[in-house]
Amino acid sequence: MDKFVIRGGNPLLGTIRISGAKNAALPAMAAALLTDEQVILENIPQVRDIETERRLLASMGAEVELGYGRAQHRTTIRCAHLVAPEAAYELVKTMRASTLVLGPLVARCGMARVSLPGGCAIGARPIDLHIKGLEQLGAKISQEHGYVVARADRLRGGHVVFDKITVTGTEDLLMAATLADGETLMENCAREPEVGDLASLLIKMGANIEGAGTSTIRVKGVQRLHGARHRIIPDRIEAGTFIVAAAMTGGDVNVTGCDPEHLAALLNKLQEVGVKVRHNGESVRVMGDGEFKPSDMSTEEYPGFPTDMQAQYMALATQAEGASVITENIFENRFMHAQELVRMGANIKIEGRRATVRGKTQLSAAAVLASDLRASASLVLAALVAQGETIVDRVYHIDRGYEHIEEKLRGVGAEIKRIGEMFPKRLSTPAVLV
Ligand code: EPZ
Repeated sequence: MDKFVIRGGNPLLGTIRISGAKNAALPAMAAALLTDEQVILENIPQVRDIETERRLLASMGAEVELGYGRAQHRTTIRCAHLVAPEAAYELVKTMRASTLVLGPLVARCGMARVSLPGGCAIGARPIDLHIKGLEQLGAKISQEHGYVVARADRLRGGHVVFDKITVTGTEDLLMAATLADGETLMENCAREPEVGDLASLLIKMGANIEGAGTSTIRVKGVQRLHGARHRIIPDRIEAGTFIVAAAMTGGDVNVTGCDPEHLAALLNKLQEVGVKVRHNGESVRVMGDGEFKPSDMSTEEYPGFPTDMQAQYMALATQAEGASVITENIFENRFMHAQELVRMGANIKIEGRRATVRGKTQLSAAAVLASDLRASASLVLAALVAQGETIVDRVYHIDRGYEHIEEKLRGVGAEIKRIGEMFPKRLSTPAVLV
């Protein structure tokens, strides 16, 4: 398994360009299931989860072409003949977002068989709200042998009120409602930018949607959707990760190709702890000096502070002069990185969903283990300021959602190298049409 070897101490200097958002690309690829025409997606990140999504769609009979060379961030999908409306356990267990095919399949094919995702490192993460919503659109849902089976001759418009704000739940129902008979009103929806991006793709495909990006969305169902071309939004979490890296190392970095508006909660928090940030148009400049004030933080749904930046913020809080209390409100078990940071010399106390981080502590290099995507990012950040050479193991977690992170960090002066088997050769050779 690949590992990263990171020598800490270098301030990051220069420019980093942000890739497309993994969490916008995955629902967009699932949306292609809603039409038999070609959907072309631009700015698709080259990360492992996209490869998993390609295999998932191909397993149903879709033609999926991941671009290469100059077109390496373009994906062309055609779901003309879907042979099996099924998401197998083998794929779903590697990527929960595979459940995003449930709504589109039952809407387009009248039938979907999707493996239940099972537990996850950061929490139970059930999909009961997806199922409840589809039932409100008239789907008959049963559970057998670890699979959810949904059936409906044609979904019908309905009134969905989410008991809890759910990002992929909102996206799943949004896609299903586009082909339903009649109007659907969805309330207490997620307002994440990725939901808005999915809606703009669906509208280009001929859907009738109002209110995406707010907590109330109205969808007038149509008979069929057509093909479209769409550019995926930038990855705000990747951008946030590099912004915190630049701040922690006392660097001066321009993060380009991002949308500062999507980063408002993070940038406000960083200014609060003393980081100089300037942003315009599509870039954010971070000028850190490695000195930080402590500040409490609670994760919330968008536009609040994103849970996907909690681990990275914890790494920064270890370098603040004083105590910061971090409260994780979204997932019940998202402090796995804390014990690894303690192994590097951090002072962190966990009580349920609250972590008290006392700084400033000089971190020292150690062998650490990544447990999930964002936890592994926080370990890389800690290693960039630690004394000595840190070994981060199981970086396959980070490859799921960061495109060539070590090359991007090396580009701004980090001493980081990957050891072990290279990221699957698949992505470096021309794609084949399946
Ligand atoms: C999305 O996951 C993201 N994944 C996650 O990013 C992100 O952490 C999360 O939203 C919150 O922002 C993708 O977009 C692919 P939720 P999702 O449904 O949709 C509970 C990353 O690092 N819930 O909004 O699965 C759930 O357990 C990943 O890129 C139910 O109880 O998250 C959680 O406590 C990690 N029943 C809360 O709601 C349901 O049916 C929010 O989860 C659905 C959710």
